[in-house]
Amino acid sequence: MAPLFSPDQVDLVNSSNDIVEVVSQYLPLKRSGRNFKALCPFHSEKTPSFTVSPDKQIFHCFGCGAGGDVFSFVMRKENMTFPEAVRYLARRANVQLPEADPRAASRREKLFELHRLAADYFHWGLTRSRAGERAREYLNRREITKDSIKTFEIGYAQPGWESLLNRARKKGYPEELLVEAGLVIKREKGGGCYDRFRDRLIVPVRDGRGRTIAFGGRVLDDSLPKYINSPETPLFRKGGILFGIDRARVRIGEAGEAIIGEGYFDVIRAHQEGVENMVCSQGTAFTEIQAQVLKRYTDKVVVAFDADQAGTAAALRGLAVFLEKNFEVRIIVLPPGEDPDSFIRKHSGPAFEKLAQESRPLLDFKLDWLCKQYDIAADRGRMSVARQMLESISLIENAVLRETYLRKLAGRLGVSPEAVQEEFGKRKPPAPPSRTPAAVPEGKIDKYQLRLLKYLMGNDTFFRRVEEELYPDVFSPPLQPVVTLMLELIRQGQVPLSKTLVGALRDRRAQEMVSGWLLDSDGSGPEVGEAVQLIINLARKRVRSELLRARRELAAREGLEEDRALILRRCAALQKELQSLPSRIREKAGL
Ligand code: UTP
Ligand code: MN
Repeated sequence: MAPLFSPDQVDLVNSSNDIVEVVSQYLPLKRSGRNFKALCPFHSEKTPSFTVSPDKQIFHCFGCGAGGDVFSFVMRKENMTFPEAVRYLARRANVQLPEADPRAASRREKLFELHRLAADYFHWGLTRSRAGERAREYLNRREITKDSIKTFEIGYAQPGWESLLNRARKKGYPEELLVEAGLVIKREKGGGCYDRFRDRLIVPVRDGRGRTIAFGGRVLDDSLPKYINSPETPLFRKGGILFGIDRARVRIGEAGEAIIGEGYFDVIRAHQEGVENMVCSQGTAFTEIQAQVLKRYTDKVVVAFDADQAGTAAALRGLAVFLEKNFEVRIIVLPPGEDPDSFIRKHSGPAFEKLAQESRPLLDFKLDWLCKQYDIAADRGRMSVARQMLESISLIENAVLRETYLRKLAGRLGVSPEAVQEEFGKRKPPAPPSRTPAAVPEGKIDKYQLRLLKYLMGNDTFFRRVEEELYPDVFSPPLQPVVTLMLELIRQGQVPLSKTLVGALRDRRAQEMVSGWLLDSDGSGPEVGEAVQLIINLARKRVRSELLRARRELAAREGLEEDRALILRRCAALQKELQSLPSRIREKAGL
């Protein structure tokens, strides 16, 4: 198993990047004897215990135990894998590295090409084809202009079952590549494939460099599902991209802030009416990756919100990623029932920008909202508000801001700032994130889980299909770091996985363990049916333990009726999931 880079290359990159310089890009270092010190970026502390040694070229935090070399630092700080950190630091120091895996690289190129072809074909379908007439009328009714159709390359997928398939085949693309791109789906019986997107309006999803990496397809009427999206592919990871970022990034930089909506049409409408710093999350929760991408352009986000939304609590919690990454977060409250698309259409782009200008900081909004949800005249109500506010306040890095909100909270609840401060002090600092594969813990390894992992390592396509169903914590402890890494790699499209895995494992014991499995030739691996059954068993285990945890929480929240109602709803959802997960997993696995 050849690692991605030779030890010499890694050494060269290492010695070309002085750890003191690299760390200084992120935090202010102060000299202290032979070393440098700073407040640890991986846990919250008041006195610096984060130490960098220029002689040894390592760092260590005597508070939380984080430590390692320049790679480990970048891996943690930028949420990167080892190879990514090597590439990143190589670029920083102008060190030339060979392409990670020429085969995988040229395959990615082919996938980009294929997406280009599909985007053109869909766009032709909308602007020129006869069947596209309905879609043209639809957009016309929605007042989406020709210019928008052009800049966003909106398209239309023909109603036939094999239109794109035939088109791409004629151009010489093999079916297998179309399947990998998620553009066609394998038939369950009788072989062959059919188009994923049929008779739908098509919105291409593009990366920051403007390359199409996925598609969203909307129905032209009220039927369901409203949207079908590309599945995860080597180019596209859900939650890995903000829709519209390619068009919005320059304007975001100029405006000094990004406006975030929820849907494709919010972005298209906003841009059409001159609000060009708008992007959206495609209806999913915000991820760290998205926050990180935005951080390159701005540290202010304004989130457009439907105030009536049943899920306000969850939506607010979802914004924690931005607080964690030190964004200034503000909330636009739209009139009930409106989304940015409908608001802008009804009023105007400038009217929406005015809402953005007048938007309030997330924590002020949250405090108001919580005080409406709970009865702060009652002890329990005040405690609920305090608990939920402190969750957010603890994420604020700036001490002045933190103090300000602690005081606001105290004032609102009619208690002394000292009392709130005391409660705040009780909160444990959040555990440092452990994104780098940790050392392999001791413990027994479940033999069936191991069989499943071996199967996954050798079957990348299958792995990608079921990847969402796998959670590291249900595996035996020694397997967990490996599963975490496997998921990370497969999500980045690192195939063949078996090849990249060992190189990316930096823990020696883990490397030895995995290379052992990979070279282990006792042959009789599981069949796909067994693998699927094993995944179902694990998923059941996970849902059951979540259910158990929810029930315990329920007992602990005796008397807190609002909380209990939420938890009960979650229990019901988990019960339902337990019922439906076998068929869901079989379907994903293509059985
Ligand atoms: P919305 O239902 O708010 O859609 O979902 P929308 O963008 O306002 O669409 P229009 O205005 O009715 O045409 C927000 C986003 O969630 C994702 C899409 O990215 C959508 O833009 N979504 C929604 C899906 O992926 N699938 C769905 O079935 C629904
Ligand atoms: Mn809408």
